[in-house]
Amino acid sequence: MFEIIVKKELAPNVKLIEVKAPLIARKALPGQFVILRVYEKGERIPLTIAEKNIETESITIVFQEVGKTTKLLGKLRVGDKISDIVGPLGNPSEIERFGVVIGVGGGVGIAALYPILKGLKEKGNYVISIIGGRSANYVIFREEIEKISDEIYVTTDDGSLGRKGLVTDVLKEILEKRKIDRIWAVGPTIMMKVVSDLTKAYHVPTIVSLNPIMVDGTGMCGGCRVTVGGKIRFTCVDGPEFDGHLVDFDELLTRLKTYKDEETLALRLFEE
Ligand code: FAD
Ligand code: FES
Repeated sequence: MFEIIVKKELAPNVKLIEVKAPLIARKALPGQFVILRVYEKGERIPLTIAEKNIETESITIVFQEVGKTTKLLGKLRVGDKISDIVGPLGNPSEIERFGVVIGVGGGVGIAALYPILKGLKEKGNYVISIIGGRSANYVIFREEIEKISDEIYVTTDDGSLGRKGLVTDVLKEILEKRKIDRIWAVGPTIMMKVVSDLTKAYHVPTIVSLNPIMVDGTGMCGGCRVTVGGKIRFTCVDGPEFDGHLVDFDELLTRLKTYKDEETLALRLFEE
């Protein structure tokens, strides 16, 4: 059992929990994730490790309440326990000294981008961050990202914070003027697709962190299958990061909707 030691609401329906998990905290590296079950018979869901704390032997998870399991997780309080957490899973991000890097984060993906940018900064890269959300309330982890960035740009759809518009508007302007060595994009699938389409034209290597449906997290079930460069890849063991220029995003977007009816029903029954 894994005890929740900190809980915060970061934005409407976006929560942060810090969970005691000594073995995972010791091993976790940027880009990795866990699969957890809130209770013994619950669904297994993957969530990114946003931070680890060796002193408190804990990991931080930031999640958006989108359906039954994330809503259930959001109801837990400090002192409550999560039935099981498996991890760290997935391959760590390739953290090297590339030169000038850009991190593009959208919504809850900003928290997942944070450990990657922190690692890149520690390696001596010049870090430019572009983070965005629907409105000011939804731009999470701004202070944390600011601390590890050489430059930070914030966008909101409604202009309530930073610049009105999309993260890709700022990205395009930067790509027009400067030489960028590598880009990471973490956020909604559609955002990662648009970023990848844009950076392809400028020939800048772009890494995306994919979020398909996962079940076992060990490469056995095939649930997280994606097509990258025409080849089948399993996100849980071959990813979660891939070359954005090679990902078949249209297939991924379609596959994400596979269980829409079941998910809607599960949420309705849960809320009744
Ligand atoms: P449901 O109603 O079941 O589903 C809502 C939507 O979430 C679905 O339409 C589907 O697109 C997606 N989804 C459903 N079940 C799964 C599943 N088992 N695996 C993956 N996606 C699913 N979300 C965060 O908020 N924070 C994170 O840090 C985060 N990290 C992730 C890391 C990885 C490697 C992956 C693959 C996904 C990550 N997600 C993250 C997405 C998160 O797992 C889903 O939002 C969650 O599983 C939804 O479950 P639900 O029962 O609440 O919603
Ligand atoms: Fe089953 Fe990846 S989650 S193969």
